[in-house]
Formats: sequence, structure tokens, C-alpha cells
Amino acid sequence: MCGIFAYLNFLTPRKREEILELLIQGLERLEYRGYDSAGLAVDSANQGIDLLKQPGKVKNLREEIKSLKNQLNFEQVLDVHIGIAHTRWATHGVPSKVNTHPHRSNEDNEFVVVHNGIITNYKDVKQFLMKKGYSFESETDTEVIAKMIGHLRELHPIFSFRELVEHVIQHLEGAFALCFKSVHFPGEVVVARRGSPLVVGIKTKNKLNSDYVPVFNSRENRIHDNDMKATRSGLSRSDSDAEFLSLGENKEVEYFFASDASAIIEHTDRVIYLLDEDVASVNNDGIFRIHRMKQNHDDPLNREITTLKMEIQQIMKGNYSTFMQKEIFEQPESVFNTMRGRINFDNETVVLGGLKDHMNEIRRCRRLLLIACGTSYHSTIATRQLLEELTELPVMVDLASDFLDRNTPIFRDDICFFISQSGETADTLMALRYCKQHGALSVGFTNTVGSSICRESDCGVHINAGPEIGVASTKAYTSQMISLILFALMMSEDRVSAQPRRSEIIQGLHKLPDQIKEVLKLDDKIKEISKQIYDKKSLLVLGRGHNFATCLEGALKVKEITYMHSEGIMAGELKHGPLALVDKGMPIIMICIRDGVFSKCMNALQQVTAREGQPILICTKGDIEPQQFASMVFEVPHTVDCLSGLLTVIPLQMLSYHVAVLKGCNVDCPRNLAKSVTVE
Ligand code: F6R
Repeated sequence: MCGIFAYLNFLTPRKREEILELLIQGLERLEYRGYDSAGLAVDSANQGIDLLKQPGKVKNLREEIKSLKNQLNFEQVLDVHIGIAHTRWATHGVPSKVNTHPHRSNEDNEFVVVHNGIITNYKDVKQFLMKKGYSFESETDTEVIAKMIGHLRELHPIFSFRELVEHVIQHLEGAFALCFKSVHFPGEVVVARRGSPLVVGIKTKNKLNSDYVPVFNSRENRIHDNDMKATRSGLSRSDSDAEFLSLGENKEVEYFFASDASAIIEHTDRVIYLLDEDVASVNNDGIFRIHRMKQNHDDPLNREITTLKMEIQQIMKGNYSTFMQKEIFEQPESVFNTMRGRINFDNETVVLGGLKDHMNEIRRCRRLLLIACGTSYHSTIATRQLLEELTELPVMVDLASDFLDRNTPIFRDDICFFISQSGETADTLMALRYCKQHGALSVGFTNTVGSSICRESDCGVHINAGPEIGVASTKAYTSQMISLILFALMMSEDRVSAQPRRSEIIQGLHKLPDQIKEVLKLDDKIKEISKQIYDKKSLLVLGRGHNFATCLEGALKVKEITYMHSEGIMAGELKHGPLALVDKGMPIIMICIRDGVFSKCMNALQQVTAREGQPILICTKGDIEPQQFASMVFEVPHTVDCLSGLLTVIPLQMLSYHVAVLKGCNVDCPRNLAKSVTVE
């Protein structure tokens, strides 16, 4: 749940100041993954390693570095250098300097490591090391990794850096992306992943000789303590077989290692997504290699060097004050991109390329299960009714954590959908693995190409919303909804009786980007209304039918970025309890759209006003009837019932944003949260 960034320049002279700036910028890109503290490790002037750490956001670390300008020898030029950096979202141990990464093997900083993930057996490893005489300075699980590599180096002083790391990993359980640096191996780096993401960027002057990096199976050459000689000769055989990235003419090369490609894109668009059990290293010849800790017979024998399609502008804030605001306003384009190339509005056909080869199997299934967390889960609630209607299948929606807690029965003829913006959410990923073990077809819906859910699912859909940096999810939600709606449309293509319904939805989707633009024009009005509620203790959001999900999602946005209590309530449940909360002081938002449940929503509206409640109404444009009961009104354009949630959620996204700004909250980095939740 943290962000890792590392930079290695090989025969590419860089001033120490530049290297530090590059590391800090990398961390700033990854800050959405956690911002409890930040730290980095670089070579010191006297052949050692300097560790720089600061609690709080990356800017604190930046300030600290600025204040140490003279001490850090900013002007020194380094031809070869590896710097590693980390931004933390605390799991074990409070956010403090001592718990900040990088962690070290000993007071001399012989080995330092940064880690994203959780080591589940860290207590056992810690106990083992303490018995050997090691003492620990932090409360983190990560420190055992640093101490363990130091310990193994004492036992096996002739091991290479990579061999030591492979040895350490054999003792670890849980999830990790790791990046190591050592005074014993200057200019070298070793990284490894199991369960947490890690991307490598490669920058060279000339084109690389190959688009692939072969992988080397470490298992065959695993070093056994009692058989060191034999196995080392095995490793040198791989060197002569040129099992590495072919650099061609490129003597000068720069490598970037990051939890996410958004930290790399401004330097290079050539990247390799590492897989679980990969150990990648750059040795002192500047050569990059990938070794496998476990190679199953169907694992790929090489890694493709892919070219990133994302633009740097896509991940910058542009004219907006926060990423969240930018992402809210990007929705006319992001929903268009989700549909692009998939819907033919003339002949009303829909094709999701990633699913088309599996449609026969999907059509034969017994039921659909939609599994996700948080906002992604709300997208499943928002589309469940339409999926049931157009697929005529039972559709279960589940929170991934609860799904796992219940050991939910899964059958071979179930189809399981996993919806996740990041594609890395641990609960969702575990649920995916669970369903695969039970023989169900797994379908990923993610926004992050190369993410774990993307790779591990049998097939999937990329929602194409573009990078989402703000911790509060906005444009990914609307794109997730559209992707699921497209699936429902694809499933019903051959059903004659469904054609009029399909047709109205497809034409509704066609108008959607323009209708979203119209809703976004409410921004000034919403800002004004925010002034009236930002200091209240609580906010209720009421609705039902296709708009119940909007209530849950709107309330979640308010909670997470304004820290105000908020609750999304199914209007049908009002009289079963929540009505007791209603009085003239309680801010209430009610969604009352001209759809199948309109008259029921009108009943709820009247029940609220009868208790002196003063609802803020979200209704269909020009609909006078509900407006007479409202204290304030946001009108959204008329659309098909099952698409209305795509419009009604936007005023709530904007409202949460304005309330957060008025309260002085950090919109993009709300307290205690992180963008990518890679822990259970
Ligand atoms: C809320 C939010 C979270 C995520 C949840 C799942 O704004 O962003 O609730 O939706 O953590 O994340 P993904 O979609 O990455 O699996």
C-alpha cells in the first residue's frame, strides 16, 4: 500500500542534486499510494549510504533535503548510482521517522530496502533474528527483511547481491515489492515482487536490440548452503548464455523501478511489468536480468518491453487545483473513451474485445457474481438491475472482504467479475484467486493495464478511464458502470424481445458525454450550496432503484474527503428507522428521477418534509412536481432510467469536493487512506 521508486543511472553522469530531485519527483507521483512518511537512500560522499527520512508528506522530505544542501554535496557528479525511495502508508507501526523506509541491516546501512506489501510471518522471522543477536529499531514488518539480508551476507560473503535477495525471499510469507541497495554492491540494484506491483522503466539513447527480456529460472540454480560451488557455476552459465536485456549500442542506460508506471512515464515509455516471483537485477556492468523464484510450465519465458500509451499531461493536474476536481471534469471524455471502438451507434452492436472469445461460456453460466470493494462495489450495485434484466441471470453482488469471510460457495459454471480501478486491491485479488481455484471463469474489469487483476483473470475489460490519481474515485466509477452496461448489452444482442430496450440504452449512451457536460455546469451552484452544509455534522443521501448506488457512492465521497459523517439510505427503508434522524437541522439530499420508482420517491420526499426536513433535490430537468417539496434543486438532463445514476452521481462528487475545500481538507490525499489498497 506504499509507493516505491528507484533510479539507477549507468554511465550517465548525474549531479547528486539531480538524482535527489528525480527521486523526490518519483515519490510525488506515487503519493496517492500513501503519504504517512517518505524516505530515500543514496550513496554518501564517503562510500556509505545516506538515509533521509521525514514523517508526513513528500514535501517534508523535499524541505529536509533542501536544508541539508551543503552536507549532501549537491554538485558532485556520479557516473553510476542507484537511489531508492519510498512513500509510506502505515500498516505496522505508527507514522514516525523510525518506521519510515528505507530500513537498514545495521547502523552502518550496509543493506537498505524499501517495501510495499505486508510480511505476514515477520514475527517469526524477527524472533529468529533476535535469537541470533539482532536488535530492531522500528515496529515495521519490513525491518526483518533488511536484517535478514545482513545476516545472510555474514553467512555467505561470496554470494552475489541477487543471490542474497533470493535467499531472503525464501524466508518471507505475505506480499511484497522490494527494492534493495547495498554498500557491498555499489551501482547495483535488486528488486523482487510477490503480490505487490512493480514496473521497470528503461531509458537508452538508441533503440533497444530486442522487445523482450528472457527470464532465467533461479530454481534450477538455487544456492544451497551446503552446495555452493556447484550452484554458482550454474549461474555463470546463464551469463554466458546472454540471459539478459540486450542493450545493443547503448552503453549509457537509465533504469527506473516504480510501483506504478505514472512515476516513470515522464522519463521513458519503455517498461516491463514484473510478475510475481520475479527477481530483477542490474549488475555492475549495467546489465538487467530477470530471474524467477518459481517457474510454472505455463509461465511466459520472457517479459515484453511494452510501450506506454499514457501521456504525461494525462497525469498532471492541468488547470485544476486538485486531481479529484480534474478527474470529475474529465468525465465527458472518460466515459466516451470507455465506449470508444466498442459501441456501433448506427447498427447498435456492442463488442467488448476482451470477452468475445468467452461469450459462449458466459452465456451458458448458472449465475453472475460481481465482486469488488468501495466505489467499485457501488458500480456493481448501480448496474445489477440492468444486468438481471438483460441477461436474465441471477446476479449476486458482493464486497470482496465479506465474500471471502463467508467462504461463499462457487461453482464451475459461475462467472465471476472482479471490478477494481487499481487492479491491485488485495481483497478483490484474493477473491479472484478463490474463484479460480473453484473452477469459475474470472473476468477482470480494471483501469490499470498490467495490474495483478488484469493478469490473473481469465479474460477482462479495460475500463479506459485514464489514470486516476485522486484517492477518491470519480471517473473510474462512471467508466466501471458503463463497462458493465456494455456487457449487459452484449449479452442481450440475440434476444429479439430485448431490442427496443437495447436500442434506447445505446442511444442514451450516445448522448451521455454531452449530458455530463451539462451537469458539470452546476458547479457554481453546488459551490454555493456547499457553504450552507460544510459545517454540519452529518449528511443523508436518499434514493432507490437505479439511484440507490448513487446514494451510497455520494455518501462515501463525502465521508472520505470531508470527514463528515454521511449515509446513503435506500428510500424504501426510511420508515424502518432512518426517519428518526430527520428534523429541520439535518441536511438531506434526495434523488427523485422520473423512472419506475418515481412515485415511491415522492412518498419519501413528503415523509421527509412532513418532519420539517428541508431536502436538497436531485431531479430530472424541468420536472416541477418534486421541486415544490425541495429547499434547493439540482436538475440533471433526462436519460434512460438505468443510465440516470451516471448523471446523478456527478453533483454529489462536486458537492463533496467543495465541502472538502471549504473545510480545508486535503482533497487528493484524505487522511488515513491510500489509492491502492494492497493489504487485506
Ligand atoms: C473510494 C475509493 C475506494 C476504492 C476501493 C477499491 O473513493 O476509491 O473505495 O474504490 O478501495 O479500489 P479499487 O477499485 O482500486 O479496487
